[in-house]
Amino acid sequence: MKKKILALMFLLILLAGGISACTSDKPDGETVSALLDAVGGDADESTATQPPITTTEDTTAAPTNPPAPPSNYAGKKLAAITFDDGPGPYTRNLIEELNKRGVKATFFMLGQQAEKYVDTVKYMYDSGHQLGSHTYTHKDITKISDDEFRSEMQKTDDAIIKGAGQGATAFRPPYGAFNKQKLDIQDKTPTHWSVDTMDWKNKNAELVKQNIVNNTKDGSIILLHDIYETSVQGALAAIDVLLEQGFQFVSVNELVTRNGDPITPHEIYFSCVPKKEES
Ligand code: NI
Repeated sequence: MKKKILALMFLLILLAGGISACTSDKPDGETVSALLDAVGGDADESTATQPPITTTEDTTAAPTNPPAPPSNYAGKKLAAITFDDGPGPYTRNLIEELNKRGVKATFFMLGQQAEKYVDTVKYMYDSGHQLGSHTYTHKDITKISDDEFRSEMQKTDDAIIKGAGQGATAFRPPYGAFNKQKLDIQDKTPTHWSVDTMDWKNKNAELVKQNIVNNTKDGSIILLHDIYETSVQGALAAIDVLLEQGFQFVSVNELVTRNGDPITPHEIYFSCVPKKEES
């Protein structure tokens, strides 16, 4: 219980700076539970730590990305499915299966992996999936200097460019650990998650599937790792169920601009619910 209270305090502090809930609304329940998960120490890989808070000052920096085009998603249930730590041996097959289903995903790649899977990165890009950066060597960015962070990001972009001809357009900090200082010196879409499949821990395709199907709501960002075969199997099985339920899978950038708002590159996204109609 004490942990939960601390997590909620942590959430309130974070809300004061550095988080984008896609709208200015208070975050919904799934954001809170994602943070509880993160603070519980189980986020992403097992060494996840509570992101240190460096400041609570106002963060109304002008967005550098252009405004989003008008949204065609009114009335649709959207979700973004995301894969970290690859590319790996299962990624090409995963992309093939996503393409068959008309599903767009976002891949938060490690630069050191992108270098090994240049053809897969090209296939990913040619298939229309969004390319994301997850740093070069999976560093906790709150524990490295600004210069080292810039170097990790640049080396990752260089690796992705070798395959895709362009760099990453989104960024997910390893372990979900971030601070405003680091977000401020990069211009990609900072992305957290609202559905944690725990796939890296359970390595069980059925559990991965259930975690996705049971927790995905309109606006969810789903965290997976394409370096595990069980994650790929569970993700595809869940996608088939959710497609039947009328979900449409879009890239992170498509999801966070669904309401016609511009991307906020210095504030991190956990989910993006549709803007409520005025009544
Ligand atoms: Ni990771």
